[in-house]
Amino acid sequence: MKILVLNGPNLNMLGVREPDIYGKENYASLCKTVEDEAKRLGIQVDIRQSNHEGQLVDWIQEAFGVFDGIVINPAAYTHYSIAILDALKAVGLPAVEVHISDIHKREDFRKHSVTAPACIGQISGKGIYGYVLGIRMLYDHING
Ligand code: DQA
Repeated sequence: MKILVLNGPNLNMLGVREPDIYGKENYASLCKTVEDEAKRLGIQVDIRQSNHEGQLVDWIQEAFGVFDGIVINPAAYTHYSIAILDALKAVGLPAVEVHISDIHKREDFRKHSVTAPACIGQISGKGIYGYVLGIRMLYDHING
């Protein structure tokens, strides 16, 4: 099983960025958490981060026929990227949306996700551990 883990804008700034909201762990630590979980489950993961919407759309499209599912934290794009929603729908791969912070308990504009309707589930507010939960959700879904 091959899973693509995509991270949107500013997630490369983890550890530095608003640590009271996103925690003190940095992006390398996020990647290690994901890789450790993949090893435990015996699956392959490819972890990528971009600050650019079009790059994320390209990676989603290229995942078709290559990956079995996607874990995605679209970051700010969650709240307004119809392009990412459409890309996820276009490839039709099972996807899980992950948010480090609890988007439902923050500003009103963060409460709505335009990308979630293309996902089988959303995990929010569990910190970096949310990626572990996201991978497991996808793994269970794919294994049926
Ligand atoms: C985020 C939440 C978004 O609202 C925000 O724009 C992010 C990160 C999270 O992981 O909590 O950049 O997706």
